[in-house]
Amino acid sequence: MAGVTPQPLVARVAALRDVFGRQFGAAPTVVARAPGRVNLIGEHTDYNDGFVFPIAIDRDTLVAARPRTDRQVRLYSDTLRRASQWSLDAIEPSRDQPWSNYVRGLTRFLEEEEVALPGADLAIASSVPLGAGVSSSAALEMAAGTALLALAGVEMEPSTLAMLCQRVENQFVGVNSGIMDQFISGLALADHALLLDCRSLRYEHVALPADHVIGVADTGVKHGLVASEYNARRVECDEGVRRLQEVLPDIRALRDVSPEHLATHATLLPERVARRSRHVVGENARVLAAVDALRNGNLAAVGELMYTSHASLRDDYEVTVPELDVLVDAARGVRGVVGSRMTGGGFGGSTVTLMERRAASQWERSVRRAFRERFGRPPATFITAAASGAGLVLS
Ligand code: GLA
Repeated sequence: MAGVTPQPLVARVAALRDVFGRQFGAAPTVVARAPGRVNLIGEHTDYNDGFVFPIAIDRDTLVAARPRTDRQVRLYSDTLRRASQWSLDAIEPSRDQPWSNYVRGLTRFLEEEEVALPGADLAIASSVPLGAGVSSSAALEMAAGTALLALAGVEMEPSTLAMLCQRVENQFVGVNSGIMDQFISGLALADHALLLDCRSLRYEHVALPADHVIGVADTGVKHGLVASEYNARRVECDEGVRRLQEVLPDIRALRDVSPEHLATHATLLPERVARRSRHVVGENARVLAAVDALRNGNLAAVGELMYTSHASLRDDYEVTVPELDVLVDAARGVRGVVGSRMTGGGFGGSTVTLMERRAASQWERSVRRAFRERFGRPPATFITAAASGAGLVLS
């Protein structure tokens, strides 16, 4: 079915306050929000010290909070209708309640950063589709982090909080993900995409063209191997760097390798590692070219770069699935579509499509028809503008 348009923020905050009152018998003292994301281009480049170009979507996670004095954390998800509880003196990952680990990990790392948390009651409500590859976990981490910092009365740069949340994924949840998802959730600006250099963490907001929107189509495919396949790609990239260092001793990451260098030295690499490296090196160049083209108003070039990115992720990086390929092909045939590609880690998840606003309903019809013909069910689709990053909505 087509995505449901979320209720306005005020109504969602009021509903969450009610939920909080019913769960914990008191009103929250703060409410924070943080958005999910789609990446326009720059996939599997963040953990290679490269460039990414994501936007925040207008689907977000709200976290309402109130301090406690007994070092207990009580967490309730209205979205999942589940509760979980732990003590700040014994923070371990939960096997039965894996959804709570994003917040558990956060409380551990905030404590390690000497953010004094007295304990907290927390309630979550999210309009970010879960498991669709649009970073519902980063939205939860960033919203919960913003709320917990407010409870502790501590100010932290959003980029520092993003890095802390990335540690939660890497060291607590066990996915070796890069910095992109948390960073865009924290630092997004409405109507802009964000060009991020994942090595220096320098960033620039780049205006998106007026009268254009972003379409998101979710394959509904959830691959059980996402974490292991993702981590395997990282290992292959590291192997590429190690072998190339024999002839290019100054490189630290694939970010430092030019397409020309790679072409000259590709024979040093096992075939698969050569293809993985070719994707990353080419993708970094594509991000910078796409940002230039966008600034020059050359949308046709942006679109071609998005399609080339998808083909590279399909053929060289091997992280697409047929469902993603069908959605991209169907989008390509629609008048007014600028470009389309898979977004996020892959192995399922969603596509991102940049298009003229007036193309949106035709895009939705076309991708749904093509997908249904091939797979016998429709994908979930929604249209979004570029939204702003995490913040407090009640304090
Ligand atoms: C996932 C990770 C990100 C990034 C993308 C691929 O979304 O969380 O850090 O690596 O995959 O670009």
